[in-house]
Amino acid sequence: LTPVQAFRASLLHCVSDPGENDAGAVDYLEDGIMLVANGRIEKIGSAEDLLPTLPSEVPIHDYRGKLIVPGFIDTHVHYPQTDMIASYGSQLLEWLNTYTFPTEAKFADEHYAADTAEFFVNELLRNGTTSALVLGTVHTQSVDAIFNAARGHDMRLIAGKVLMDRNCPENLRDTPESAYTDSKALIERWHGQDRLQYAITPRFAPTSSELQLQRAGQLAAEHPDTFIHTHVAENTKEVEWVAELFPQCRSYLDVYDRYGLLRDRSVLAHCIHLDSQDRKRLAASGAAMAFCPTSNLFLGSGLFDLSAAQSVGARVGLGTDVGAGTSFSMLQTLSEAYKVSQMAGQSLSPYRALYLATLGSAKALYIDDHVGNFAINKEADFVVLDWDSTPLMKRRINAAQSLEEKLFALFMLGDDRAISKTYIRGECAHSRDLS
Ligand code: GUN
Ligand code: FE
Repeated sequence: LTPVQAFRASLLHCVSDPGENDAGAVDYLEDGIMLVANGRIEKIGSAEDLLPTLPSEVPIHDYRGKLIVPGFIDTHVHYPQTDMIASYGSQLLEWLNTYTFPTEAKFADEHYAADTAEFFVNELLRNGTTSALVLGTVHTQSVDAIFNAARGHDMRLIAGKVLMDRNCPENLRDTPESAYTDSKALIERWHGQDRLQYAITPRFAPTSSELQLQRAGQLAAEHPDTFIHTHVAENTKEVEWVAELFPQCRSYLDVYDRYGLLRDRSVLAHCIHLDSQDRKRLAASGAAMAFCPTSNLFLGSGLFDLSAAQSVGARVGLGTDVGAGTSFSMLQTLSEAYKVSQMAGQSLSPYRALYLATLGSAKALYIDDHVGNFAINKEADFVVLDWDSTPLMKRRINAAQSLEEKLFALFMLGDDRAISKTYIRGECAHSRDLS
């Protein structure tokens, strides 16, 4: 890590949760300096104030004309589904059987896993995503592969082995016992190593027996600082199926609650078909919702209700959910999030959108002590955004009158081309011009 270095650009980050449109929730410096020492934020201020104080030997990376924001945090993504992104024509349950399970079976091969993991991690960096909560497959070697790849790029990443012992192909099944012992061994091998953390990952209620859910809950209780990661209430047929499989439970969410799987650091993807009792219970438990708009539209699952989630005070993060999601780009994901909100008559403001992709997602993953904004001493994971990454974006942004208008246009029109550089702990991990 570089001892001391300075970055000069426009700097924007969230300091708190914006309400509907709260400018006080962000901190913006038109011509700012960010000082990074040994991979952490040392100081941030205006160039006018800070430049005269910098010792002459401190290198200055001059990104004037560009915008630096915190690295994006993807709160729900399947790395093994990279090769099946954009698979045609079905909704969740059929899509799993037709495309997902055959693709995930390939991860029995550790070389395929390592190759996919390396591609995946590079794709995150190309899109300005510096942290993620990632599912592997049922195979333990799939988790070794993703953690090795993340460690190679010094990324803050959370991942886990998928648990599934029924209602899926034989070659993808574990057992309640192997789910427990394999996950425990992975926790011991990886949790807390460098910037890596472990997530206990039952795929979803239909593919785990009651005994397996019980073992997952036991593991979660034995390792309270690990994560729990699963799917809930994504698709109406799935919800009906769960009601048949677990007739004793009040709701789909209640299945996880009964097995001790709702707590701080539980992250539940989708949360579309929940009722208000579920939402309140989820928020009170400390669990978080991962909003995955491109996936929800692609699979025709439904529309996430962001206002309802916010009104109960739930933690909400943004997820790409690749391979049901259609893009690794958190900018494209924000664009779809805005449209999903529009369908419910809610308008996701530009600052709320920034919050959702950065500090809000960090809070959803309980990693906001480390990343999510440029508070002093946090880890310096950030992206350098290009306002004119396409002719159209350049023209639209030139016509904009305010920061909010520019930011909104960047979010709606942006993709990987808008990511000029991605920095991990103050070191350049991706440069668009070099790739
Ligand atoms: N529910 C259970 N498994 C999956 C998956 O792989 N993708 C999505 N989108 N939903 C799921
Ligand atoms: Fe998913």
